[in-house]
Amino acid sequence: MRLKNKVAIVTGGSRGLGQAMAELFAAEGAKVIAVDMGDMVYECANVEYYKLNVTDRDACKSFYDWAIAKYGQIDVLVNNAGVTRDSMTRKMTDEMFDFVLDVNLKGVFNLTRYIGPQMEEIGGGSIINISSVVGVFGNIGQANYAATKSGVIGMTKSWAKEFARKGVPVRVNALAPGYTMTDMMKTVPEDLLKQFAGQTMLKRLGEPEDIAKATLFLASDDSSYVTGHVLEVTGGMRL
Ligand SMILES: NC(=O)c1ccc[n+]([C@@H]2O[C@H](COP(=O)([O-])OP(=O)(O)OC[C@H]3O[C@@H](n4cnc5c(N)ncnc54)[C@H](O)[C@@H]3O)[C@@H](O)[C@H]2O)c1
Repeated sequence: MRLKNKVAIVTGGSRGLGQAMAELFAAEGAKVIAVDMGDMVYECANVEYYKLNVTDRDACKSFYDWAIAKYGQIDVLVNNAGVTRDSMTRKMTDEMFDFVLDVNLKGVFNLTRYIGPQMEEIGGGSIINISSVVGVFGNIGQANYAATKSGVIGMTKSWAKEFARKGVPVRVNALAPGYTMTDMMKTVPEDLLKQFAGQTMLKRLGEPEDIAKATLFLASDDSSYVTGHVLEVTGGMRL
């Protein structure tokens, strides 16, 4: 029960990696709020769904007020909601570029701007920003996505300094998954998936549970001396 009596928010928590995180956090004793603009694809005791588009700034503030009124405090925030709109740069439209920035970069800011300072006030907390191996190494056809996932690492390191500057243990880390089987990977051709698996030292793609277990480590006191870090969970992949 590594998250006993903790309140955790997981954005993009209705399916995919967010679902695996929410279910594992609940099994470890947390009360979890799964925030998503899409409908839940599962049911789990101690996971409450809240419909929210993280690009909607006013709605993010309303959600924050609701969460504090209902749960009292927030101990863990996982900024996991994310999207892709892949294209070679020559063909990438303004809409594709802006859409990915709005969700993956500004969406992370829209909630952390309230929850980071709240963690300072309550005396601690853990924020985990889901980056990507693409944010660390870059990738062909993903300039927009890579920009956001690298940007998330910059925000992580800035917030790790900012929210702990008064000596309060608010920890902020990024987690960079490698290719992991979720709906997001459905558009990737089978032969490419095989190629990606072959590029890992463990010779397989990730499972959502692989990522959830590493996120639990960063969320819990097991990582009490880890902050400002980028944890790659890739099976040893190099793009
Ligand atoms: N699957 C992978 O291989 C992989 C690899 C590296 C990083 N990631 C990152 O992990 C995170 C989760 O990805 P996933 O694979 O579970 O994808 P997914 O598409 O299965 O789930 C993403 C979730 O985010 C939600 N979402 C999208 N836009 C939103 C918005 N504006 N407001 C609220 N919710 C929104 C979606 O509704 C969806 O439920 C993403 O940030 C992604 O970039 C995934």
